[in-house]
Amino acid sequence: MSNIHPVFDRIIPRATKEDRLKQRAKVIWFTGLSGSGKTTLSSALEKELFRLGFFTQILDGDNIRSGINSNLGFSDIDRTENIRRIAEVAKLIMNCGVITICAFISPTKEIRQMAIDIIGKENFIEVFVNTPIEVCEQRDVKGLYEKARAGLIKDFTGVNAPFEAPVDADIIIDTSTLPLKAAIKQIIQVVKPQLEY
Ligand code: ADX
Repeated sequence: MSNIHPVFDRIIPRATKEDRLKQRAKVIWFTGLSGSGKTTLSSALEKELFRLGFFTQILDGDNIRSGINSNLGFSDIDRTENIRRIAEVAKLIMNCGVITICAFISPTKEIRQMAIDIIGKENFIEVFVNTPIEVCEQRDVKGLYEKARAGLIKDFTGVNAPFEAPVDADIIIDTSTLPLKAAIKQIIQVVKPQLEY
């Protein structure tokens, strides 16, 4: 950090941008296994928030990993760096007054805590997508569980890499029992009052 002089006081403040957008910005963070429904939920949530008049942006695992984080894999160190960069980017977008929806496995307490520390606890709404692994594996939309079970993918979350369930999530959704529409309704009920101007 030597010879680096960040200048924050010449930037138009977040509150001024929120005033322009007539909303309060937060980061809504989905965590859960691959195939649990994070992407489906986050895009349905974005559509519903946008329909309600909010201004939003999604950051999603597979998109970020094919772009800004294309040099990262799935070791502990790489996952940590993946989430660190994402949290920093989410903070930048949030500071533009935009509601930022993140969908990443973010498998460990430590990794999620790092994201919370970067973004700020008061800005962070955590949604745990608690779909049982048996269901994620049965869906196997990308065929990755089958490959992981066959030993073709190492460090695959839930198979040969850990997933630590969050204990203090703001919202918990099990997509194996709750239909998408009902899930979105439940999430909206919690987040909307926090986003309203
Ligand atoms: S995280 O652990 O660093 O938060 P992230 O959400 O960015 O993961 O990426 C997860 C996506 O990468 C999965 O949905 C899956 O498509 C793909 N993927 C490829 N290899 C793995 C792996 N070893 N473990 C988990 N996901 C993997």
